Amino acid sequence: ERVVLAYSGGLDTSVAIPYLAEKMNAEVIAVAIDLGQGGEDMDAIRKRAIECGAVESVVVDAKEEFAADFCVPALRANALYMDRYPLVSSLSRPLIVKHLVSTAKQVNGTIVAHGCTGKGNDQVRFEAGLAALAPDLTVVAPARDFAWTRDKAIDYAEAKKLPIETTKKNPFSIDQNLWGRAVETGFLEDIWNGPAEEVYSYTADPAQPRAADEVVITFEGGVPVKLDGRALTPYQIIAEMNARAGAQGVGRIDMVEDRLVGIKSREVYEAPGAVALIAAHMELENVTVERDLARFKRGVDQRWSELVYDGLWFSPLKDALDALIGDAQKYVCGDIRMTLHAGRAVVTGRRSEESLYDFSLATYDTGDSFDQSLAKGFVQLFSLPAKIAAARDAKHT
Ligand code: ARG
Ligand code: SIN
Repeated sequence: ERVVLAYSGGLDTSVAIPYLAEKMNAEVIAVAIDLGQGGEDMDAIRKRAIECGAVESVVVDAKEEFAADFCVPALRANALYMDRYPLVSSLSRPLIVKHLVSTAKQVNGTIVAHGCTGKGNDQVRFEAGLAALAPDLTVVAPARDFAWTRDKAIDYAEAKKLPIETTKKNPFSIDQNLWGRAVETGFLEDIWNGPAEEVYSYTADPAQPRAADEVVITFEGGVPVKLDGRALTPYQIIAEMNARAGAQGVGRIDMVEDRLVGIKSREVYEAPGAVALIAAHMELENVTVERDLARFKRGVDQRWSELVYDGLWFSPLKDALDALIGDAQKYVCGDIRMTLHAGRAVVTGRRSEESLYDFSLATYDTGDSFDQSLAKGFVQLFSLPAKIAAARDAKHT
């Protein structure tokens, strides 16, 4: 039999290669996905899988696909789980699933494997995605299903002389991609401990003095298409915003989070590009989306984020919400000017052909076209139901 393994190059999935080969008497095909993660050498990762005993090892360059088909939809949904977390890991799992399934087809694999534990969200995202896309494949998660611990994995790696630098000293579990970086475990498990500077790598210390950066982001239909007037792909835009907003310390998030499996966990994230782009996109929506649609969409955005967090990327409700969000993006076109500085991304200007902001209606100076005489009757009728109810309530007190 052939097992297709979602390979990250880290300890758990490296150990999984000889272990699965032995335990399941199978050939292991490793698939590593390039999601634009900062500072990882994909070719070294590919070779490492072979050194660990994989019969085949492939790297899929999915950077543009991840940006266009996963990060951009999240941006259009202003996706922030619990109002803070930009869904970094949650967005990558459905894409990894797609490529696992297509590789399994190519190599006649019948089993797929991932490195997630039984305590997290990622197992759910992998397996809910596989259930939707390839229900016939068997799933195995060695860390969960064979009760691997970190210490056991390290001992096994040493015994098998696997080429893993990970020592007991690296205490963090890190997942990173173009949309951001997630850090957990180690001393962060004490929620009173502050995140030391060493936790971060996408962002500079926001407290360090430095000159501010100003950027103009152009959107068409809710999709970012230019930075400072230069036409770029979504991948290029997100990568440049990571560099520029990251250099200003934008996008650090330290939170306690509600996992789908019922536990609360401490998570430290850095997502400089995502946080800046979402702030810009939200503000352009404020200018171009009609009030009731905008109010309704805020609830849709939240539900979309929860679905994706919970692993239901491939689901009917997610598809239906995408349709609503897509329709609401028709006129989200124009420019947002932003200052990046001292850990913050602050909008300072908006400009749009599709603007619903009408100067003559909004001004308090001369040129006012708003008929204030209409307001008096409007306010009386608007407040009538509450007025009648208050009079009734007064009878009972
Ligand atoms: N808690 C976050 C999430 O559920 C981050 C998960 C990070 N994954 C990891 N393997 N370190 O999306
Ligand atoms: C894991 O437990 O495998 C990583 C964390 C998560 O899935 O939430």
